Amino acid sequence: MSETDVTPETGSTATTTTAGESDERVREAWTEYRAAGQTKLSVDDLNVWYGDDHALKDVSMDIPAESVTALIGPSGCGKSTFLRCLNRMNDRIKTARVEGSVELDGTEVYDPNANLVELRKRIGMVFQSPNPFPKSIRENISYGPRKHGDINKGLLARLFGRDDTEAEAELVERALKQAALWDEVNDRLDDNALGLSGGQQQRLCIARCLAVDPDVILMDEPASALDPIATSKIEDLVEELAKEYTVVIVTHNMQQAARISDQTAVFLTGGELIEYDDTEKIFENPESQRVEDYITGKFG
Ligand SMILES: Nc1ncnc2c1ncn2[C@@H]1O[C@H](COP(=O)(O)OP(=O)(O)OP(=O)(O)O)[C@@H](O)[C@H]1O
Ligand SMILES: [Mg+2]
Repeated sequence: MSETDVTPETGSTATTTTAGESDERVREAWTEYRAAGQTKLSVDDLNVWYGDDHALKDVSMDIPAESVTALIGPSGCGKSTFLRCLNRMNDRIKTARVEGSVELDGTEVYDPNANLVELRKRIGMVFQSPNPFPKSIRENISYGPRKHGDINKGLLARLFGRDDTEAEAELVERALKQAALWDEVNDRLDDNALGLSGGQQQRLCIARCLAVDPDVILMDEPASALDPIATSKIEDLVEELAKEYTVVIVTHNMQQAARISDQTAVFLTGGELIEYDDTEKIFENPESQRVEDYITGKFG
């Protein structure tokens, strides 16, 4: 037998997926992935435990600025856990232990001296169920900026000539316009926010988040409790926001992820990031058979 008859070794055959390709090769292919644009958040070897439960395993990914990154995967795979790590919301969960690194514009988020108030101003969060304060629409928006000292109001401020009613009015209008809610509420800014519809409340929460001028907006299934019309308003809004902000969104809705995101990260059971790539690639030609099976509804 001549040497030319020998089929060259094309890759490791250690762990083969159902598609026949090596799992190692699959991993190598997508871990090379670098999204276009400047990196806003860089996650390196992130691990999370709740007590003994290892909820997130060795997750590394770079999230680019001014784009939408979707996180998808079955229930319990760690999407919310991952999202909460980005602005250290997991610090509030007593049993949670986080290891690894998250950098925002090159600065370590897990630095023991990090200013958490400032961090959560720069990385805002919108939750699954809208959670406006039981206050007026105006106060929902101005609460954050006032807390951060961007608006000075009250007796002392007035005494010292710093009553900033105009600044507040401008800020409220800007945030509500950005969240595509202004036209629906501008004639009732002093009404209680709890009187708004669910979809309006969710846009108010987005406006509240925008009012403090964040860099990054984290959204955990922001439209899952809304009807199709309210959902499509949120989707349009997310696409609009990505022109200026970095949006990271968890969704169970595949069509939604495919429609609105630029990159998609697929987590699967066990808290592993299985694949991360351009959304088109993930939905049309994923490297991993498990991802394809999940996306086409064969499991999950
Ligand atoms: N506060 C907590 N205390 C203990 N375990 C938790 C806590 N939060 C999440 N977990 C566990 O961590 C794992 C990941 O949960 P997580 O909520 O991040 O999943 P998820 O992907 O967001 O799921 P879903 O799609 O249902 O929202 C699960 O096993 C869950 O039970
Ligand atoms: Mg979740």
